[in-house]
Amino acid sequence: MKNKFYVTTPIYYVNDKPHIGHAYTTILADVLARFHRASGDDVFFLTGLDEHGQKVQQAAEARQMTSQAHCDDLAPRFLHLWEKLEIQHDDFIRTTQPRHVRVVQETLQKVYDAGDVYEDEYEGWYSVSEERFITATEKESGEFRDIKQLKEKNWFFRMSKYQQRLIDHINDNPEFIQPVHRRNEVLGFLRQPLGDLCISRPKSRMSWGIELPFDTEYVTYVWFDALLNYVTGPGYLADETLFQKWWPASIHLIGKDILTTHSVYWPTMLFSLGLPLPKTIFAHGWWLTGDAKMSKSLGNIVNPLDLIDEYGVDPVRYYLMREMVLGQDSNFTEASFIKRYNSDLANDFGNLLNRVSGLIGKYFDGCVPAPQEETPAEQEVRQCAESLDGRKHELIQELKVHEAIEETLALVRKMNKYLESQAPWKVAKEDLGRAGTILYTACEALRISAVHLEPVMPAKTKILLEVLGAETTGVKWGELQSGTKLKAHEALFPRVEIEK
Ligand code: ME8
Ligand code: MG
Repeated sequence: MKNKFYVTTPIYYVNDKPHIGHAYTTILADVLARFHRASGDDVFFLTGLDEHGQKVQQAAEARQMTSQAHCDDLAPRFLHLWEKLEIQHDDFIRTTQPRHVRVVQETLQKVYDAGDVYEDEYEGWYSVSEERFITATEKESGEFRDIKQLKEKNWFFRMSKYQQRLIDHINDNPEFIQPVHRRNEVLGFLRQPLGDLCISRPKSRMSWGIELPFDTEYVTYVWFDALLNYVTGPGYLADETLFQKWWPASIHLIGKDILTTHSVYWPTMLFSLGLPLPKTIFAHGWWLTGDAKMSKSLGNIVNPLDLIDEYGVDPVRYYLMREMVLGQDSNFTEASFIKRYNSDLANDFGNLLNRVSGLIGKYFDGCVPAPQEETPAEQEVRQCAESLDGRKHELIQELKVHEAIEETLALVRKMNKYLESQAPWKVAKEDLGRAGTILYTACEALRISAVHLEPVMPAKTKILLEVLGAETTGVKWGELQSGTKLKAHEALFPRVEIEK
Protein backbone atom coordinates (compact mmCIF):
# COMPACT_ATOMS: atom_id res chain seq x y z
CA MET A 1 0.00 0.00 0.00
CA LYS A 2 1.33 3.37 -1.05
CA ASN A 3 1.09 6.27 1.38
CA LYS A 4 -1.12 9.04 0.10
CA PHE A 5 -0.26 12.69 0.32
CA TYR A 6 -2.86 15.33 -0.51
CA VAL A 7 -1.50 18.88 -0.33
CA THR A 8 -3.27 22.17 -1.03
CA THR A 9 -2.42 25.86 -1.33
CA PRO A 10 -4.90 28.65 -0.66
CA ILE A 11 -6.83 29.53 -3.77
CA TYR A 12 -5.70 33.05 -4.58
CA TYR A 13 -7.93 36.04 -5.23
CA VAL A 14 -7.87 37.11 -8.82
CA ASN A 15 -7.89 40.80 -8.05
CA ASP A 16 -4.36 41.33 -9.35
CA LYS A 17 -1.30 39.59 -10.73
CA PRO A 18 0.34 36.95 -8.53
CA HIS A 19 3.29 38.09 -6.41
CA ILE A 20 6.11 36.45 -4.54
CA GLY A 21 3.90 35.59 -1.54
CA HIS A 22 1.62 33.49 -3.75
CA ALA A 23 4.63 32.03 -5.47
CA TYR A 24 6.06 31.07 -2.08
CA THR A 25 3.14 28.96 -0.84
CA THR A 26 2.77 27.32 -4.23
CA ILE A 27 6.48 26.47 -4.47
CA LEU A 28 6.37 25.10 -0.93
CA ALA A 29 3.46 22.83 -1.86
CA ASP A 30 5.32 21.78 -5.00
CA VAL A 31 8.49 20.99 -3.05
CA LEU A 32 6.56 18.87 -0.55
CA ALA A 33 4.69 17.14 -3.39
CA ARG A 34 7.96 16.36 -5.15
CA PHE A 35 9.57 15.06 -1.95
CA HIS A 36 6.61 12.73 -1.44
CA ARG A 37 6.50 11.59 -5.07
CA ALA A 38 10.22 10.86 -4.89
CA SER A 39 9.58 8.73 -1.78
CA GLY A 40 7.05 6.68 -3.73
CA ASP A 41 3.91 8.20 -2.22
CA ASP A 42 0.72 8.71 -4.16
CA VAL A 43 0.37 12.50 -4.41
CA PHE A 44 -2.49 14.87 -5.16
CA PHE A 45 -1.53 18.54 -5.29
CA LEU A 46 -4.34 21.05 -5.65
CA THR A 47 -4.07 24.79 -6.22
CA GLY A 48 -6.33 27.32 -7.88
CA LEU A 49 -8.18 30.61 -7.81
CA ASP A 50 -10.80 32.27 -5.65
CA GLU A 51 -12.88 34.15 -8.19
CA HIS A 52 -15.99 35.36 -6.38
CA GLY A 53 -16.58 38.16 -3.91
CA GLN A 54 -16.46 41.87 -3.52
CA LYS A 55 -12.73 42.32 -4.06
CA VAL A 56 -12.81 40.57 -7.41
CA GLN A 57 -16.01 42.39 -8.39
CA GLN A 58 -14.39 45.74 -7.55
CA ALA A 59 -11.21 44.89 -9.44
CA ALA A 60 -13.29 43.94 -12.49
CA GLU A 61 -15.34 47.15 -12.24
CA ALA A 62 -12.16 49.21 -12.08
CA ARG A 63 -11.09 47.59 -15.35
CA GLN A 64 -14.57 48.09 -16.83
CA MET A 65 -14.89 44.39 -17.43
CA THR A 66 -17.46 41.83 -16.34
CA SER A 67 -16.32 39.83 -13.34
CA GLN A 68 -16.07 36.64 -15.38
CA ALA A 69 -14.10 38.31 -18.19
CA HIS A 70 -11.74 39.77 -15.61
CA CYS A 71 -11.19 36.31 -14.05
CA ASP A 72 -10.74 34.69 -17.44
CA ASP A 73 -8.13 37.30 -18.25
CA LEU A 74 -6.15 36.88 -15.02
CA ALA A 75 -6.35 33.10 -14.57
CA PRO A 76 -3.83 32.39 -17.36
CA ARG A 77 -1.32 34.72 -15.69
CA PHE A 78 -1.34 32.51 -12.62
CA LEU A 79 -1.04 29.39 -14.74
CA HIS A 80 1.77 30.96 -16.72
CA LEU A 81 3.65 31.78 -13.54
CA TRP A 82 3.17 28.26 -12.17
CA GLU A 83 4.53 26.84 -15.39
CA LYS A 84 7.55 29.13 -15.25
CA LEU A 85 8.10 28.15 -11.62
CA GLU A 86 8.06 24.43 -12.54
CA ILE A 87 4.95 23.83 -10.43
CA GLN A 88 3.57 20.33 -11.00
CA HIS A 89 0.06 20.62 -9.63
CA ASP A 90 -2.36 17.78 -10.30
CA ASP A 91 -5.42 19.99 -10.44
CA PHE A 92 -6.15 23.69 -10.85
CA ILE A 93 -9.51 24.75 -9.51
CA ARG A 94 -11.39 27.95 -10.28
CA THR A 95 -14.40 28.65 -8.10
CA THR A 96 -16.44 29.73 -11.13
CA GLN A 97 -16.16 26.24 -12.63
CA PRO A 98 -19.49 24.36 -12.81
CA ARG A 99 -18.03 21.43 -10.84
CA HIS A 100 -17.41 23.77 -7.92
CA VAL A 101 -20.63 25.77 -8.16
CA ARG A 102 -22.53 22.49 -7.94
CA VAL A 103 -20.62 21.33 -4.85
CA VAL A 104 -21.18 24.66 -3.10
CA GLN A 105 -24.91 24.64 -3.79
CA GLU A 106 -25.41 21.01 -2.82
CA THR A 107 -23.35 21.57 0.32
CA LEU A 108 -25.39 24.62 1.28
CA GLN A 109 -28.53 22.56 0.85
CA LYS A 110 -27.13 19.76 3.02
CA VAL A 111 -26.15 22.16 5.79
CA TYR A 112 -29.56 23.79 5.50
CA ASP A 113 -31.37 20.44 5.63
CA ALA A 114 -29.33 19.48 8.69
CA GLY A 115 -30.82 22.52 10.44
CA ASP A 116 -27.48 24.31 10.69
CA VAL A 117 -28.59 27.42 8.75
CA TYR A 118 -31.00 30.15 9.85
CA GLU A 119 -32.05 33.66 8.84
CA ASP A 120 -31.40 36.75 10.98
CA GLU A 121 -30.82 40.48 10.97
CA TYR A 122 -27.18 41.30 11.52
CA GLU A 123 -25.34 44.46 12.33
CA GLY A 124 -21.59 44.58 12.59
CA TRP A 125 -18.20 45.64 11.29
CA TYR A 126 -17.22 44.32 7.92
CA SER A 127 -13.70 44.25 6.50
CA VAL A 128 -13.87 44.43 2.72
CA SER A 129 -10.19 43.49 2.36
CA GLU A 130 -10.70 40.31 4.40
CA GLU A 131 -14.20 39.69 3.04
CA ARG A 132 -15.68 38.98 6.45
CA PHE A 133 -17.46 40.43 9.44
CA ILE A 134 -15.01 41.13 12.23
CA THR A 135 -15.48 41.37 15.98
CA ALA A 136 -15.16 44.62 17.91
CA THR A 137 -11.85 43.40 19.34
CA GLU A 138 -10.55 42.65 15.88
CA LYS A 139 -11.61 46.10 14.74
CA GLU A 140 -9.69 47.71 17.61
CA SER A 141 -6.56 45.67 16.85
CA GLY A 142 -5.94 47.99 13.88
CA GLU A 143 -4.99 45.00 11.74
CA PHE A 144 -7.96 45.32 9.42
CA ARG A 145 -8.42 47.72 6.56
CA ASP A 146 -11.48 48.86 4.59
CA ILE A 147 -13.85 48.54 7.53
CA LYS A 148 -17.46 49.60 7.34
CA GLN A 149 -20.57 49.11 9.44
CA LEU A 150 -23.26 46.96 7.90
CA LYS A 151 -26.82 46.11 8.87
CA GLU A 152 -28.75 43.59 6.86
CA LYS A 153 -30.82 40.42 6.83
CA ASN A 154 -28.65 37.41 6.20
CA TRP A 155 -28.28 33.67 6.46
CA PHE A 156 -26.22 32.21 9.28
CA PHE A 157 -24.38 28.96 9.82
CA ARG A 158 -24.55 27.53 13.36
CA MET A 159 -20.82 27.61 13.91
CA SER A 160 -21.24 28.11 17.66
CA LYS A 161 -22.78 24.65 17.93
CA TYR A 162 -19.41 23.07 17.08
CA GLN A 163 -17.18 25.17 19.33
CA GLN A 164 -16.52 22.57 22.01
CA ARG A 165 -16.06 19.80 19.47
CA LEU A 166 -13.46 21.92 17.69
CA ILE A 167 -11.61 22.71 20.91
CA ASP A 168 -11.54 19.00 21.76
CA HIS A 169 -10.28 18.12 18.30
CA ILE A 170 -7.46 20.67 18.53
CA ASN A 171 -6.49 19.41 21.98
CA ASP A 172 -6.59 15.77 20.93
CA ASN A 173 -4.63 16.28 17.70
CA PRO A 174 -1.41 18.22 18.26
CA GLU A 175 -0.52 17.96 14.56
CA PHE A 176 -3.80 19.58 13.47
CA ILE A 177 -2.77 23.24 13.65
CA GLN A 178 0.90 24.01 13.15
CA PRO A 179 3.22 25.56 14.14
CA VAL A 180 2.39 25.37 17.84
CA HIS A 181 2.19 29.15 18.37
CA ARG A 182 -0.59 29.31 15.77
CA ARG A 183 -2.40 26.47 17.51
CA ASN A 184 -2.26 28.41 20.77
CA GLU A 185 -3.54 31.49 18.98
CA VAL A 186 -6.58 29.56 17.75
CA LEU A 187 -7.21 28.02 21.16
CA GLY A 188 -7.01 31.55 22.61
CA PHE A 189 -9.57 32.78 20.09
CA LEU A 190 -11.84 29.86 21.03
CA ARG A 191 -11.81 30.85 24.69
CA GLN A 192 -14.40 33.50 23.78
CA PRO A 193 -17.86 32.26 22.83
CA LEU A 194 -17.85 31.56 19.12
CA GLY A 195 -20.55 33.41 17.17
CA ASP A 196 -22.42 31.99 14.21
CA LEU A 197 -21.09 32.61 10.74
CA CYS A 198 -22.84 34.90 8.30
CA ILE A 199 -22.77 32.92 5.05
CA SER A 200 -24.73 35.12 2.66
CA ARG A 201 -24.57 38.45 0.86
CA PRO A 202 -27.66 40.13 -0.53
CA LYS A 203 -27.39 40.38 -4.30
CA SER A 204 -28.36 44.04 -4.03
CA ARG A 205 -24.98 44.68 -2.37
CA MET A 206 -22.81 42.02 -3.93
CA SER A 207 -23.91 39.84 -6.78
CA TRP A 208 -20.67 38.15 -7.82
CA GLY A 209 -21.08 34.82 -6.09
CA ILE A 210 -22.90 31.51 -5.99
CA GLU A 211 -26.63 31.73 -5.44
CA LEU A 212 -28.10 30.18 -2.28
CA PRO A 213 -30.27 27.23 -3.33
CA PHE A 214 -32.87 28.15 -0.69
CA ASP A 215 -32.96 31.93 -1.24
CA THR A 216 -32.29 33.31 -4.70
CA GLU A 217 -32.02 36.91 -3.44
CA TYR A 218 -28.68 35.96 -1.94
CA VAL A 219 -25.27 34.68 -2.98
CA THR A 220 -23.03 32.78 -0.60
CA TYR A 221 -20.29 34.39 1.35
CA VAL A 222 -16.90 34.11 -0.33
CA TRP A 223 -15.30 31.94 2.40
CA PHE A 224 -18.11 29.42 2.47
CA ASP A 225 -17.55 29.09 -1.26
CA ALA A 226 -13.74 29.19 -1.29
CA LEU A 227 -13.01 26.69 1.49
CA LEU A 228 -15.06 24.03 -0.24
CA ASN A 229 -12.56 23.98 -3.11
CA TYR A 230 -10.51 21.56 -1.02
CA VAL A 231 -13.24 18.93 -1.33
CA THR A 232 -14.39 19.79 -4.85
CA GLY A 233 -10.87 19.11 -6.14
CA PRO A 234 -10.77 15.44 -5.13
CA GLY A 235 -14.35 14.81 -6.29
CA TYR A 236 -16.74 15.44 -3.39
CA LEU A 237 -20.34 14.72 -4.45
CA ALA A 238 -19.05 13.81 -7.91
CA ASP A 239 -16.75 10.81 -7.63
CA GLU A 240 -17.16 9.03 -4.32
CA THR A 241 -14.30 6.55 -4.86
CA LEU A 242 -11.84 9.28 -5.73
CA PHE A 243 -12.99 11.41 -2.85
CA GLN A 244 -12.66 8.49 -0.41
CA LYS A 245 -9.15 7.98 -1.68
CA TRP A 246 -7.94 11.54 -1.08
CA TRP A 247 -10.00 13.05 1.71
CA PRO A 248 -9.03 14.10 4.38
CA ALA A 249 -6.22 16.27 3.07
CA SER A 250 -2.77 15.58 4.49
CA ILE A 251 -1.96 19.27 4.70
CA HIS A 252 -3.51 22.65 3.92
CA LEU A 253 -0.67 25.14 3.48
CA ILE A 254 -1.75 28.70 4.21
CA GLY A 255 -0.29 32.04 5.25
CA LYS A 256 -1.01 33.21 8.80
CA ASP A 257 -3.38 35.85 7.37
CA ILE A 258 -6.05 33.21 6.81
CA LEU A 259 -5.59 31.13 9.95
CA THR A 260 -9.03 31.78 11.48
CA THR A 261 -11.00 30.96 8.37
CA HIS A 262 -9.10 27.69 7.95
CA SER A 263 -8.88 26.52 11.53
CA VAL A 264 -12.30 27.68 12.78
CA TYR A 265 -14.74 28.17 9.89
CA TRP A 266 -13.57 25.24 7.81
CA PRO A 267 -13.52 22.53 10.52
CA THR A 268 -17.00 23.51 11.74
CA MET A 269 -18.30 23.32 8.17
CA LEU A 270 -16.80 19.84 7.89
CA PHE A 271 -18.35 18.82 11.22
CA SER A 272 -21.75 19.86 9.89
CA LEU A 273 -21.19 17.89 6.69
CA GLY A 274 -20.06 14.84 8.64
CA LEU A 275 -16.66 14.82 6.94
CA PRO A 276 -13.31 14.17 8.64
CA LEU A 277 -11.01 17.15 9.23
CA PRO A 278 -7.73 17.67 7.37
CA LYS A 279 -4.78 16.13 9.16
CA THR A 280 -2.76 19.35 9.29
CA ILE A 281 -3.28 23.04 8.67
CA PHE A 282 0.09 24.73 8.47
CA ALA A 283 0.25 28.53 8.62
CA HIS A 284 3.54 29.98 7.43
CA GLY A 285 4.75 33.52 8.07
CA TRP A 286 4.91 36.46 5.72
CA TRP A 287 7.43 37.71 3.27
CA LEU A 288 8.08 41.28 4.27
CA THR A 289 9.63 44.19 2.49
CA GLY A 290 11.13 46.29 5.23
CA ASP A 291 8.73 45.81 8.12
CA ALA A 292 5.58 45.59 6.04
CA LYS A 293 3.83 42.54 4.67
CA MET A 294 4.28 42.30 0.97
CA SER A 295 0.77 42.71 -0.41
CA LYS A 296 -1.13 43.85 -3.42
CA SER A 297 -2.98 46.53 -1.52
CA LEU A 298 0.24 47.98 -0.06
CA GLY A 299 1.85 48.06 -3.50
CA ASN A 300 5.24 46.85 -2.26
CA ILE A 301 5.33 43.59 -4.13
CA VAL A 302 8.20 41.79 -5.77
CA ASN A 303 7.24 40.36 -9.13
CA PRO A 304 8.45 36.77 -9.32
CA LEU A 305 8.62 36.88 -13.11
CA ASP A 306 11.22 39.66 -12.97
CA LEU A 307 13.36 37.61 -10.60
CA ILE A 308 13.07 34.50 -12.77
CA ASP A 309 14.07 36.45 -15.86
CA GLU A 310 17.07 37.85 -14.08
CA TYR A 311 18.34 34.82 -12.14
CA GLY A 312 16.50 31.74 -13.38
CA VAL A 313 13.76 29.73 -11.74
CA ASP A 314 15.78 27.34 -9.58
CA PRO A 315 17.62 30.05 -7.62
CA VAL A 316 14.26 31.71 -6.89
CA ARG A 317 12.79 28.45 -5.62
CA TYR A 318 15.98 27.76 -3.67
CA TYR A 319 16.08 31.17 -2.03
CA LEU A 320 12.44 31.11 -0.96
CA MET A 321 12.71 27.61 0.48
CA ARG A 322 16.12 28.03 2.13
CA GLU A 323 15.60 31.49 3.55
CA MET A 324 12.24 31.21 5.28
CA VAL A 325 12.07 29.32 8.54
CA LEU A 326 8.61 27.78 8.23
CA GLY A 327 6.28 29.56 10.59
CA GLN A 328 8.29 32.77 10.94
CA ASP A 329 8.32 35.97 8.89
CA SER A 330 11.17 36.64 6.51
CA ASN A 331 12.51 39.72 4.83
CA PHE A 332 12.86 39.70 1.10
CA THR A 333 15.69 41.76 -0.33
CA GLU A 334 17.52 41.38 -3.59
CA ALA A 335 20.80 41.77 -1.71
CA SER A 336 20.08 38.74 0.51
CA PHE A 337 18.95 36.86 -2.57
CA ILE A 338 22.25 37.50 -4.34
CA LYS A 339 24.23 36.70 -1.23
CA ARG A 340 22.48 33.35 -0.82
CA TYR A 341 22.82 32.61 -4.53
CA ASN A 342 26.54 33.28 -4.58
CA SER A 343 27.39 31.43 -1.39
CA ASP A 344 25.27 28.30 -1.68
CA LEU A 345 24.67 27.88 -5.39
CA ALA A 346 27.65 29.44 -7.15
CA ASN A 347 30.44 28.79 -4.60
CA ASP A 348 29.31 25.54 -3.01
CA PHE A 349 27.03 23.50 -5.26
CA GLY A 350 27.89 24.76 -8.75
CA ASN A 351 31.57 24.91 -7.94
CA LEU A 352 31.66 21.30 -6.76
CA LEU A 353 30.44 20.17 -10.18
CA ASN A 354 33.00 22.35 -11.93
CA ARG A 355 35.87 21.01 -9.86
CA VAL A 356 34.86 17.38 -10.16
CA SER A 357 34.17 17.46 -13.88
CA GLY A 358 37.31 19.53 -14.52
CA LEU A 359 39.52 17.03 -12.68
CA ILE A 360 37.87 13.99 -14.23
CA GLY A 361 38.34 15.65 -17.61
CA LYS A 362 41.99 16.30 -16.93
CA TYR A 363 43.04 12.99 -15.37
CA PHE A 364 40.47 10.46 -16.60
CA ASP A 365 39.62 11.60 -20.07
CA GLY A 366 36.20 12.74 -18.85
CA CYS A 367 35.13 9.25 -17.72
CA VAL A 368 34.01 8.54 -14.13
CA PRO A 369 36.90 6.57 -12.56
CA ALA A 370 36.36 3.27 -10.72
CA PRO A 371 36.78 3.55 -6.95
CA GLN A 372 39.40 1.42 -5.24
CA GLU A 373 39.80 0.75 -1.56
CA GLU A 374 38.20 3.34 0.75
CA THR A 375 40.19 5.07 3.47
CA PRO A 376 38.50 6.48 6.60
CA ALA A 377 38.05 9.77 4.73
CA GLU A 378 35.88 8.09 2.07
CA GLN A 379 34.02 6.06 4.70
CA GLU A 380 33.12 9.23 6.52
CA VAL A 381 31.84 10.87 3.34
CA ARG A 382 29.82 7.82 2.41
CA GLN A 383 28.24 7.55 5.86
CA CYS A 384 27.30 11.21 5.75
CA ALA A 385 25.73 10.81 2.30
CA GLU A 386 23.93 7.60 3.25
CA SER A 387 22.43 8.98 6.46
CA LEU A 388 21.19 12.11 4.71
CA ASP A 389 18.08 10.39 3.35
CA GLY A 390 16.74 9.40 6.76
CA ARG A 391 17.44 12.81 8.26
CA LYS A 392 15.81 14.52 5.32
CA HIS A 393 12.67 12.42 5.67
CA GLU A 394 12.35 13.33 9.33
CA LEU A 395 12.87 17.03 8.61
CA ILE A 396 10.30 17.02 5.81
CA GLN A 397 7.81 15.26 8.09
CA GLU A 398 8.39 18.08 10.56
CA LEU A 399 8.07 20.61 7.71
CA LYS A 400 11.59 21.90 8.30
CA VAL A 401 12.29 22.39 4.62
CA HIS A 402 15.07 24.93 5.18
CA GLU A 403 16.87 22.47 7.46
CA ALA A 404 16.53 19.63 4.99
CA ILE A 405 18.16 21.87 2.38
CA GLU A 406 20.84 22.94 4.83
CA GLU A 407 21.71 19.29 5.62
CA THR A 408 22.21 18.65 1.91
CA LEU A 409 24.33 21.75 1.47
CA ALA A 410 26.39 20.63 4.46
CA LEU A 411 27.28 17.50 2.48
CA VAL A 412 28.21 19.66 -0.52
CA ARG A 413 30.46 21.85 1.61
CA LYS A 414 31.98 18.78 3.20
CA MET A 415 32.86 17.56 -0.29
CA ASN A 416 34.55 20.82 -1.21
CA LYS A 417 36.65 20.52 1.96
CA TYR A 418 37.33 16.85 1.24
CA LEU A 419 38.69 17.78 -2.19
CA GLU A 420 40.89 20.47 -0.63
CA SER A 421 42.34 18.10 1.91
CA GLN A 422 42.71 15.08 -0.41
CA ALA A 423 44.09 17.19 -3.28
CA PRO A 424 43.49 14.64 -6.06
CA TRP A 425 45.39 16.90 -8.49
CA LYS A 426 48.53 16.18 -6.47
CA VAL A 427 47.76 12.53 -5.78
CA ALA A 428 47.15 11.90 -9.51
CA LYS A 429 50.82 12.43 -10.25
CA GLU A 430 51.89 9.49 -8.04
CA ASP A 431 48.84 7.27 -7.64
CA LEU A 432 46.18 7.57 -10.32
CA GLY A 433 44.10 4.79 -8.74
CA ARG A 434 43.90 6.67 -5.45
CA ALA A 435 43.01 9.91 -7.27
CA GLY A 436 40.24 7.94 -9.00
CA THR A 437 38.82 6.85 -5.66
CA ILE A 438 38.76 10.43 -4.42
CA LEU A 439 37.07 11.72 -7.56
CA TYR A 440 34.55 8.90 -7.66
CA THR A 441 33.68 9.65 -4.04
CA ALA A 442 33.27 13.38 -4.70
CA CYS A 443 31.25 12.78 -7.83
CA GLU A 444 28.99 10.25 -6.11
CA ALA A 445 28.32 12.55 -3.14
CA LEU A 446 27.57 15.35 -5.61
CA ARG A 447 25.13 13.11 -7.46
CA ILE A 448 23.35 12.18 -4.22
CA SER A 449 23.12 15.84 -3.19
CA ALA A 450 21.54 16.62 -6.55
CA VAL A 451 18.97 13.86 -6.12
CA HIS A 452 18.08 15.30 -2.70
CA LEU A 453 17.80 18.82 -4.10
CA GLU A 454 15.61 17.81 -7.05
CA PRO A 455 12.33 18.83 -5.36
CA VAL A 456 13.73 22.30 -4.73
CA MET A 457 15.65 22.82 -7.99
CA PRO A 458 14.18 20.45 -10.57
CA ALA A 459 15.70 22.14 -13.62
CA LYS A 460 19.32 22.52 -12.53
CA THR A 461 19.55 19.17 -10.80
CA LYS A 462 18.25 17.55 -13.97
CA ILE A 463 21.07 19.16 -15.94
CA LEU A 464 23.60 18.07 -13.33
CA LEU A 465 22.35 14.49 -13.33
CA GLU A 466 22.44 14.44 -17.13
CA VAL A 467 26.07 15.55 -17.03
CA LEU A 468 26.77 12.56 -14.78
CA GLY A 469 24.67 10.20 -16.93
CA ALA A 470 22.61 9.54 -13.81
CA GLU A 471 19.12 10.89 -14.62
CA THR A 472 17.26 7.90 -13.24
CA THR A 473 19.34 7.21 -10.16
CA GLY A 474 18.22 7.44 -6.53
CA VAL A 475 19.76 8.21 -3.17
CA LYS A 476 21.73 4.97 -2.67
CA TRP A 477 25.50 5.14 -2.59
CA GLY A 478 27.19 3.50 -5.57
CA GLU A 479 24.58 4.11 -8.28
CA LEU A 480 27.02 6.29 -10.22
CA GLN A 481 28.48 4.10 -12.99
CA SER A 482 32.24 4.09 -13.41
CA GLY A 483 33.23 4.57 -17.01
CA THR A 484 30.39 7.00 -17.73
CA LYS A 485 31.56 9.79 -20.00
CA LEU A 486 30.64 13.12 -18.48
CA LYS A 487 28.75 15.48 -20.75
CA ALA A 488 30.10 18.94 -21.49
CA HIS A 489 28.35 21.62 -19.45
CA GLU A 490 28.44 25.27 -18.53
CA ALA A 491 28.63 26.66 -15.01
CA LEU A 492 25.36 25.67 -13.31
CA PHE A 493 25.17 28.90 -11.32
CA PRO A 494 27.44 31.64 -12.67
CA ARG A 495 28.37 34.08 -9.93
CA VAL A 496 26.30 37.24 -9.77
CA GLU A 497 28.44 40.33 -9.37
CA ILE A 498 26.85 42.96 -7.18
CA GLU A 499 26.96 46.31 -8.91
CA LYS A 500 27.77 49.20 -6.68
O1 ME8 B 1 -6.64 34.96 1.14
N1 ME8 B 1 4.05 36.34 2.39
O2 ME8 B 1 -6.26 34.87 -1.14
P1 ME8 B 1 -4.97 35.84 -1.30
C1 ME8 B 1 3.77 35.03 2.36
N2 ME8 B 1 -8.60 33.80 -1.54
N3 ME8 B 1 2.68 34.51 1.77
C2 ME8 B 1 1.82 35.36 1.19
C3 ME8 B 1 2.03 36.75 1.19
C4 ME8 B 1 3.22 37.24 1.82
N4 ME8 B 1 3.54 38.52 1.87
N5 ME8 B 1 1.00 37.34 0.55
C5 ME8 B 1 0.17 36.33 0.15
C6 ME8 B 1 -6.95 34.61 0.01
N6 ME8 B 1 0.66 35.14 0.53
C7 ME8 B 1 -8.16 33.73 -0.20
C8 ME8 B 1 -7.80 32.30 0.21
S1 ME8 B 1 -8.35 29.71 0.52
C9 ME8 B 1 -9.72 28.77 0.65
C10 ME8 B 1 -8.92 31.31 0.10
C11 ME8 B 1 0.06 33.82 0.27
O3 ME8 B 1 -4.84 36.09 -2.76
C12 ME8 B 1 -0.27 33.09 1.56
O4 ME8 B 1 -0.41 31.73 1.28
O5 ME8 B 1 -5.07 37.01 -0.40
C13 ME8 B 1 -1.61 33.70 1.90
O6 ME8 B 1 -2.34 32.93 2.83
C14 ME8 B 1 -2.26 33.71 0.54
O7 ME8 B 1 -1.19 34.03 -0.37
C15 ME8 B 1 -3.41 34.72 0.45
O8 ME8 B 1 -3.76 34.90 -0.89
MG1 MG C 1 -4.97 38.46 1.17
